[in-house]
Amino acid sequence: MAKIVIENLSGKVVNIHPQSRSILAALQNERVDWMYACGGKGRCTTCKLIVVAGQEHLSEKTPAEIRYEQEGKLAPNERLACQARALGDLRVRVPDEGKLPHLKYDD
Ligand code: FES
Repeated sequence: MAKIVIENLSGKVVNIHPQSRSILAALQNERVDWMYACGGKGRCTTCKLIVVAGQEHLSEKTPAEIRYEQEGKLAPNERLACQARALGDLRVRVPDEGKLPHLKYDD
């Protein structure tokens, strides 16, 4: 089973079930709190994650991600958790703007 390691959340390891429709769904399955202001509809960028390793294991960018990238709101190493699917192991970081006040991050 593929795994996501969240580097700045104490190296939390999240198992990815093959049927998870997105990284956000996989995080929610494992009860990891993650910001998602538009409800996972691709209409904001609050669920953004920074991909440290495993970019090649991600699904193709969705039209929403391509649009945000063209608008300069997503860097080449950033994806939307509600849009991207993990097809293999990943290492990610939570960006500053996505940090939740009740969680303790390592940076
Ligand atoms: S939650 Fe809004 S784009 Fe992902």
